Amino acid sequence: MKNELLLKALKGESVERPPVWMMRQAGRYLPDFMKLKEKYDFFTRCQTPELATEITLMPIDQMGVDAAIIFSDILVVLQAMNIEVEMRDGIGPYLPHPITNQSALNQVLLPDVDDRLGYVFEAVRMTKKELHDRVPLIGFAGAPWTLLCYAVQGQGSKNFDRAKAFCFQEPEMAKELLQKITTTTIAYLRAKIKAGADVIQLFDSWGGLLSPTDYQEFSWPYLQQIIDALSGTVPVIVFGKGCWFALQEMGKSGASALGIDWTCSARNARYLSGGQITLQGNFDPSRLLSPIPEIKTQVKQMINAFGKDRYIVNLGHGILPNIPVDHAKAFVDAVKEYGS
Ligand code: CP3
Repeated sequence: MKNELLLKALKGESVERPPVWMMRQAGRYLPDFMKLKEKYDFFTRCQTPELATEITLMPIDQMGVDAAIIFSDILVVLQAMNIEVEMRDGIGPYLPHPITNQSALNQVLLPDVDDRLGYVFEAVRMTKKELHDRVPLIGFAGAPWTLLCYAVQGQGSKNFDRAKAFCFQEPEMAKELLQKITTTTIAYLRAKIKAGADVIQLFDSWGGLLSPTDYQEFSWPYLQQIIDALSGTVPVIVFGKGCWFALQEMGKSGASALGIDWTCSARNARYLSGGQITLQGNFDPSRLLSPIPEIKTQVKQMINAFGKDRYIVNLGHGILPNIPVDHAKAFVDAVKEYGS
């Protein structure tokens, strides 16, 4: 690997500067991506390895980030499990048949992942080839809880009230669904690693909607199962948005790094996670709308606060579609200029 910064930071080794990449960097804000978006619908982009590869490489070539993340979506795992998922303009993910009762749950399958998700593994192989070991490739999956949110609610939501009601009223069914998702995710990630993913990130985007106690019941045990199943393969990064309350447990889980959002200070994150584990984050994505000199100053302050070692510079959540390209580039450049 020519650029080892991410892998070193994940091992806790000292680096001359921290690595940098941006969540959701492979899409959303880049003009070349917008052009492809006009021509091909969302799942066509995901299912066509040539397109997924092209989109994955855009931020490597144009932004100079230290890692690639494969272009795909967390929801492809639900599709493979026989749950229909559409991407609707102005709505986002839309699931016409949410899983709200036992008969719907019985229709949820444990798929042969090579058969149903082979296009993802093909995209990973193709991307690895095109990357020529310039930077490591991150594969990812949604946390079982976050996927349940979509499977039960049927679409995005501020509070995922129907998904939470299902868990609290039908905990046995909820756990059956969570376990099915977990089992599928483990097979999926093992195949992704076999295809060439160098690192895995787990996205628990809606973990912070649960109370600390409910998180221990409906999210964390399933993430821990996935971490355990991948132990001895590649480093795993766990990003739980709003999950500062679980950092202590996460710090002991065997994960290589923990993602932090911008509502948690570097100091608190270090303290809560036990001070040893690598942390990733946590620039407020909206802060990329600040004037460029301000972005650069704040990035330097952020690195000083986390420390240059055991740290991966990132946003505290995905990059927003309205971020000017030169502002995203300034974020990356500020990290590269660090210490010089
Ligand atoms: O860096 C990357 O962009 C890699 C690919 C990637 C996508 N989705 C592509 C995508 C990744 C890592 C994801 C993860 C994802 N998807 C998460 C977890 C991370 C997070 O942001 O919290 C979640 C919750 C989803 C579910 C999802 N997919 C939503 C809510 C939406 C609609 C709105 C949006 O843009 O986030 C999607 C669609 C989606 N996934 C798009 C892209 C580029 C936009 C739709 C399009 O391009 O047509």
